[in-house]
Amino acid sequence: MTPEPNADAVAERILQAALGTIDLLAVHLGDRLGWYRSLAGEGPASSSELAVRTNTSERYAREWLEQQAITGILVLNDDGDTRRFTLPAAAAEVLTDSNSLNYLAPLARMFAGAAVQMPALLDAYRAGTGVGWSDFGEDVLQSQADMNRPWFHRELERALNQAPDLVSRLQAEETTIADIGCGAGWSTISLARRFPTAKVTGFDVDAASIDLARVNAADSGSAVEFEHIDAAGLPADRFDAVFAFECIHDLPYPVEVLASARQSLRTGGTVVVMDEAVADAFQPPCDDVERLMYGFSLLICLPDGMSHPNSAATGTVMRRATLSGYALAAGFRDVRVLPIEGFGFFRFYELLP
Ligand SMILES: C[S@@+](CC[C@H](N)C(=O)[O-])C[C@H]1O[C@@H](n2cnc3c(N)ncnc32)[C@H](O)[C@@H]1O
Repeated sequence: MTPEPNADAVAERILQAALGTIDLLAVHLGDRLGWYRSLAGEGPASSSELAVRTNTSERYAREWLEQQAITGILVLNDDGDTRRFTLPAAAAEVLTDSNSLNYLAPLARMFAGAAVQMPALLDAYRAGTGVGWSDFGEDVLQSQADMNRPWFHRELERALNQAPDLVSRLQAEETTIADIGCGAGWSTISLARRFPTAKVTGFDVDAASIDLARVNAADSGSAVEFEHIDAAGLPADRFDAVFAFECIHDLPYPVEVLASARQSLRTGGTVVVMDEAVADAFQPPCDDVERLMYGFSLLICLPDGMSHPNSAATGTVMRRATLSGYALAAGFRDVRVLPIEGFGFFRFYELLP
């Protein structure tokens, strides 16, 4: 058994967490104000130069630059006359390269965006109600999209290729594919790239997400279509595959949505769920994946799920047995884990009708 930590150790841990929170919120400032992008794209800057380049206040820019240097993200170059600050290449990748699998500025944006809702979250925690996805607003919606986009864009094809049976079934002419809970549509666009002969449609209940998905598809030159509907009402006997990327744990009524997905399949069709790769059982203390997922759950996913009456209230930490229970209740005969490795924090399941 791990020895119980003393108060000094707990205090030290909370202090370190506060320092991490400061880092995250400072990253959010640098991201949203365009400071990192300016340092990455236009090179090192003094506070006056950065303020002019980004149309922001010099005094605030100075404080942020100094904070970023003392926390070790920026490097100070002081020639005795002017203090300039450099964003090293590795930090530039993590904080500004939206195509990199290491791009994590959206993680700061997501937690900052969720924290804005703290008064509503406190009310919800007291009353057993929720805070809906659309109430979280632009920062949460956009950061969700930005965080998953490089994975869909760069890795989905390789990931699916690890499940050759599935891929071969979807390569036939006139295949139809649904992407439910598609959000900003990046998964839908990537599916269409992987299966160019298929008709791929994204579905989401959130109007702002569908608007964004249509813009993203147009900007990407993709012919995918999007429909603003609740996935509990999918058309019958229509699809050869229904994909659900990182959304089942958010659904207030997952059994209804999975039953709808099941009846929307054509003969031989299949449902693929990508969700968090959490452990099979609750066994604290847990690894960082589980710590992160409980964080999303406390601040976003559980309140989102609980914003509807009689919600399943799953939360982000949807364990394998929970998904299997939903699938069996929805009429599926079995759930298997697809042999897909190395796709971020995610696991792929196939639901067999
Ligand atoms: C965490 S986001 C995931 C978005 C996207 N699949 C991704 O991986 O980035 C969950 C999405 O599920 C959508 N959603 C929730 N309930 C839904 C429902 N009943 N029908 C369709 N979409 C739903 C939300 O609007 C949101 O866009």
